[in-house]
Amino acid sequence: MALTIGLVRKAPARTELHALAVTTADPNPDGVDPKVLASNGFAGKAGELVVTSGPAGPIAVLGMGDPESITTSSYRQAAVAFVRAASRHKRVSADVFAVAPDTVSARDAAQAFAEGLALGRYEFTSLKSKSEPNKVESVSLVGSSGLRAGVERGLTISAGVNLARDLVNEPGGSLTPTVFARRASAVGRQHKLTVKVMDAAAIKRARMGGLLGVNRGSSQQPRFVQLTYSPPKANKHIALVGKGITFDSGGLSIKTGTGMMTMKCDMAGAAAVLGTMSVVAQLAPAVKVSAFMPLTDNMLGGDATRPGDVLEIRNGKTVEVLNTDAEGRLVLADALSLASESKPDAIIDLATLTGACMVALGPRYAGAMGTDEPLVAQVLASSARTGERVWQLPLPSEYRSMIDSPVADIKNVGGPHGGAITAGLFLKEFVAEGIPWVHLDIAGPAFIDTGSWDEHPRGGTGFGVRLLVDLIDSL
Ligand code: BES
Ligand code: MN
Ligand code: ZN
Repeated sequence: MALTIGLVRKAPARTELHALAVTTADPNPDGVDPKVLASNGFAGKAGELVVTSGPAGPIAVLGMGDPESITTSSYRQAAVAFVRAASRHKRVSADVFAVAPDTVSARDAAQAFAEGLALGRYEFTSLKSKSEPNKVESVSLVGSSGLRAGVERGLTISAGVNLARDLVNEPGGSLTPTVFARRASAVGRQHKLTVKVMDAAAIKRARMGGLLGVNRGSSQQPRFVQLTYSPPKANKHIALVGKGITFDSGGLSIKTGTGMMTMKCDMAGAAAVLGTMSVVAQLAPAVKVSAFMPLTDNMLGGDATRPGDVLEIRNGKTVEVLNTDAEGRLVLADALSLASESKPDAIIDLATLTGACMVALGPRYAGAMGTDEPLVAQVLASSARTGERVWQLPLPSEYRSMIDSPVADIKNVGGPHGGAITAGLFLKEFVAEGIPWVHLDIAGPAFIDTGSWDEHPRGGTGFGVRLLVDLIDSL
């Protein structure tokens, strides 16, 4: 059931659960017994929530923290807590904007609250024979009709994030490259994007030796999907590239059983790019956006690429494959070469590329590497605005020799150290000179293995959709 959010002038006389936001400055709303709040240790701090009886029925008192420290993410966080506490109810209401400080615009607060509701209520239940998904289907929000745009934007962006989450959560055995490509074209058609799907023969004609080399051990056909959003008055062109390994076994350089358990997530880059395209088509910025998604699984059939094999990438460079588990960079090499040919003003790629990036930054930060500091700064600014954590890593030319090959132009693994960086340096070889480019290694934040983080349950997070939408919008 989709979520609808309506704006109302004042709180409905009665709903199944009504949320009221308070701050530490005044944590006791009228009509609520202060003793109940106190006995629950409620002080109005961010993230606190107490459900009790209010003046007009059940009420969820939502803590927003100190009045001056409220930000848009306080709104997102409060909505997540509320929608989860309300999970057994269908129709609820909320009065939360009165406590917003001047530093938070009403529109941004409304957007963040809508995001928190739509993202916090998400669960991947389609493969359970019995499940009790969150029942919240309509939220009446107290606020002026001027908040409509913020609410709509929040819902549109969240739908893109949830699309990416669904794709990541779907197992590799059913979300094959052909199935992913079909889904991507359906999304493209639905939103009137230009869709181009290349099959194995077309990929061969396009001389994409990296994608074909990774696909060689698979019984599944590869695909290469391009989606384009091209508004009449575009002043910029940005290309998005997403790693689309629908399952990564490691190939002949096989992973351990444990190492493979989460590897259905290895198409999270492509999923985020697709989610972003669905949002962009609806928000309609004056920026041309093209998406490039190389799709295959990485398997170890009888004719799989062998360590030592040399592949020729679309731009003519040759790669010695010494570890078939470093496959993401091979498919991205072809995609970055192709993306470069359209001479965009910027290229951003997203990839669950290296375990080394998780070693460096832990699970919640994506690593950013790039050739253009102003573009990196824009990515970091979008990260700060959306709350999707990113940390910059260097791309030092002194490390380039770590991927020199004795037999080919370059090899696909570096030394034992700096694995996220040598992967970044590898990708850089396939971005045409002069095109500003940023690589986001999302191996950590794309997927939650155990527990849950903020608005995300276990599984795919849709990381990158909000950041990319913000970036495109701010260009
Ligand atoms: N898909 C993995 C990276 C990964 C690991 C993503 C854990 C998410 C969670 C990637 O294809 C890979 O296997 N990388 C290797 C590279 C190495 C062989 C140079 C890695 O990180 O071990
Ligand atoms: Mn791999
Ligand atoms: Zn991989």
